[in-house]
Amino acid sequence: MGIKEIRLEELSPEKFIEDKVKEISSTVGNGLAINALSGGVDSSTVTILAHRALGDRLKTHFVSNGLMREKEPEYIVSLFQNLGVKVGLINAEETFFDALKGVTDPEEKREAITQAFYKDVFGKLVRESSAKYLLQGTNYTDVEETVAGVKRQHNILEQLGINPEEVYGYKVIEPLIQLRKSAIRKVAKALGLPEEIYNRLPFPGPALAARIIGEVTPERVAIVRKATRIVEEELHSIGAFQYLAILHSDKVTGLREDKRDYGMQIEVRCWDSKDAVTGSPTRLSYDILDRLAERITKEVAGVVSVTYNITPKPPSTIEAV
Ligand code: XMP
Repeated sequence: MGIKEIRLEELSPEKFIEDKVKEISSTVGNGLAINALSGGVDSSTVTILAHRALGDRLKTHFVSNGLMREKEPEYIVSLFQNLGVKVGLINAEETFFDALKGVTDPEEKREAITQAFYKDVFGKLVRESSAKYLLQGTNYTDVEETVAGVKRQHNILEQLGINPEEVYGYKVIEPLIQLRKSAIRKVAKALGLPEEIYNRLPFPGPALAARIIGEVTPERVAIVRKATRIVEEELHSIGAFQYLAILHSDKVTGLREDKRDYGMQIEVRCWDSKDAVTGSPTRLSYDILDRLAERITKEVAGVVSVTYNITPKPPSTIEAV
């Protein structure tokens, strides 16, 4: 596909950092670059690399899209502020929810988020900042899956024949495009990012919208957000690759206080995987599964059923959308 992977075994993080800092510096020249920080390991690594290369000429923004996990915007903005990187917090929740209104098809959902992010929110920011470059953390797996037609990763443009300069008016720099997640974690660590970032769980660009089957509304995001917090609390010490909660669109008959309660279903997934290309469900103990069912049905109002996905990837994928 025209991009050569740098494998974990052949990566020298120090040399990679040195090369990329030089490359970013010479590409951007004396101009400005802009990037969006989501707090995941990929965008965090890009932020620090580009900050090293450009200092204050890098304008970093956290786009609050209403689809993030609990307290995420404040947490990430203050963590990077403590690392010496100023991060502007952009409140774009309405734009995203408007774009997602009535959309149920998975690929249309991804497309709506791509458009809201790149065209409405970022296009505007770039125009206002006069930056000519957008830095982003696209990785090798994102490209591979998009090119293979598995899922359109929201950050993939050029590989789909979309020229961002023509369509949106800016050039994209993707310093991590040759690396998979495990290699990016190594670079992140070498850059001095804290462990809570370099060992962070993978989290998809479309955020909790990738975990909602059917329409994405503020109310439905609130439900999956609560379930996500519980799943993360209960499973963080397991050592799995990724774990998540999914909100289903169909309701099921439940029973509460001797009365019929027609309610929602949450599906829990927990993955063992090396690089997200393939994966198998973690063999969680029944005690853990019991606790998940108990907490989710007690703490998330309206949920009457909790299931655990026992299907490997393939044929499943890690996220639901
Ligand atoms: P799937 O669901 O395709 O996920 O098996 C593979 C890995 O990629 C993450 N993922 C995404 N990451 N933009 C991203 O940046 C996306 O659109 C996206 N979709 C999935 C997912 O969390 C998993 O780690």
